Amino acid sequence: MGLRVFLLAAALLALSCSHGAIASDPSLLQDFCVADKMSQVRVNGLPCKAAKDVVAEDFFFSGLHMAGNAANKQGSAVTAVNVAQIAGLNTLGISLVRIDYAPYGLNPPHTHPRSTEILTVIEGSLNVGFVTSNPENKHFNKVLNKGDVFVFPKGLVHYQFNNCTTGTVAIAALSSQNPGVITMANAVFGSNPSIPDDIVAKAFQVEKNTVDWMQAQF
Ligand SMILES: *[C@@H]1O[C@H](CO)[C@@H](O)[C@H](O)[C@H]1NC(C)=O
Repeated sequence: MGLRVFLLAAALLALSCSHGAIASDPSLLQDFCVADKMSQVRVNGLPCKAAKDVVAEDFFFSGLHMAGNAANKQGSAVTAVNVAQIAGLNTLGISLVRIDYAPYGLNPPHTHPRSTEILTVIEGSLNVGFVTSNPENKHFNKVLNKGDVFVFPKGLVHYQFNNCTTGTVAIAALSSQNPGVITMANAVFGSNPSIPDDIVAKAFQVEKNTVDWMQAQF
């Protein structure tokens, strides 16, 4: 009898965990958990500082009115506002970025392993897209103008390209306090130490010296 009750409880627990809690960062068990950046404790997320020590500044960031410096090879700059900038975002499952694009600037193909992204164009326009997982690898593509909104589902490879002669500004929200970024080209051709060129050559079905040339760009 005791075993049956236990199994039933375990099954109910499994059920309750299978919806909601796994959609993004884990659900809150308290009003907030402002990250204690001094703590040496290591948990999934960051430990909370004492609630009595929490102040309004723990939920505050200033500076998103300022353009990031997009004068780089790709012509884009991401200003992130996640748990690293706002300690109060710890355990809340949400964060923000501002992205500035130079004329013909690109936010190159990348993925956020821990979050879905919803992006809106504040100024200018963007050619955006994402690609689904194997085996379809279906490419969804759309041109966005000022005020348009587009969603990049969690974990999928996506990009934004400013196909015009003037700058573009976008704001995006992400469903994690710490979305993470994996840029495809950097991971494959710019890792440290490098992935051996014969491995990359076989993966991409090109000559080894083509891979060496690609790796030299990073
Ligand atoms: C950029 O715009 C030009 C001119 O409208 C068009 O021909 C080209 O296909 C566009 N490229 C991308 C990647 O959006």
